[in-house]
Amino acid sequence: MNPDEMPDEPHLPSPSLWPIGFAIGVAVLLVGLIINPLWVSTIGGAIAVIFGVLWARDATSELRGRPVAIEPERRRPAPPGEEAPVQPSAERYPRSKFLEGTTLGLGAVIGGIVTVPVTGFLVLPGFVGQKRHKVDLGPVSDYAAGQWYIATFMLDPSEGEVSRRTTFIRNNGTVTVKGKQVPSFTIISNRCAHLGCPVQANGPSGAILGLKTLTETGKNGKVTLTPTVPAGFGCPCHGGQYDTEGNRTAGPPVRALDRYEYSIVDGRVWLGKTYSVSKVDGAGAQARIHRYRLAGPGEHVDGPEQWFYPLNPPHN
Ligand code: FES
Repeated sequence: MNPDEMPDEPHLPSPSLWPIGFAIGVAVLLVGLIINPLWVSTIGGAIAVIFGVLWARDATSELRGRPVAIEPERRRPAPPGEEAPVQPSAERYPRSKFLEGTTLGLGAVIGGIVTVPVTGFLVLPGFVGQKRHKVDLGPVSDYAAGQWYIATFMLDPSEGEVSRRTTFIRNNGTVTVKGKQVPSFTIISNRCAHLGCPVQANGPSGAILGLKTLTETGKNGKVTLTPTVPAGFGCPCHGGQYDTEGNRTAGPPVRALDRYEYSIVDGRVWLGKTYSVSKVDGAGAQARIHRYRLAGPGEHVDGPEQWFYPLNPPHN
């Protein structure tokens, strides 16, 4: 067909996939804020930025003068002996495109103004300004080598008994670190890795062993050390069972018991922050601990399942 005889049709812009990619990026970013701000949010943000730039470039290239319609006069030849008619130029910045861009831009700005502060006020307080407590658990000499103790202490005496915590602590003797002999302790949290019930030592404890319960009142209120001889640890709620390294041996818990960091300062045991553990190989001072950031009860810390849980605010 002669091109001059072709019907004149407006050249509409082809549908773009960039907005869909941009929306997916924003969705991944928002989900990442809940499950993993570091990796998932970063990936979502990158996707949103890349597709947003492509979308904006596409939109502005249309505004920069790509003809939207071809006027019929352009295709008609001038009759012989006559001058070609003056062709009206295509509208350079179509009003519809301008309004579309303005509406989208204003919508994005208003959406950001409304959602960003609300999300920030909801999510951030759990992650900033949290107190990190260090607890003095008394002199190393209070802990007989190889003996387990049930230690109770207040995380923050200003909050009273509500901040009282329990751990299981054992003096493993000494271990060589960089050529020096340093004390080694195993300090296990009593929070069940299933739903958080208080785990108990499976074995006799206290006076029945003929051993004294030590009590000391210090900076962190009253600290009690009750000797115990556990065969493992057990949870009264749903029957979760752990061995003496905190490894899950039976029941519904999904990982080992959490542990505490510790340090020895001026001959005293100081409790640090809590971390989660998937499993422990070996025992005592030679144990190899598979350590992870602190997770909530019931959360997997390794394998693909770990991606499905929100980040926990720091605490101990
Ligand atoms: S809370 Fe411990 S087994 Fe369920």
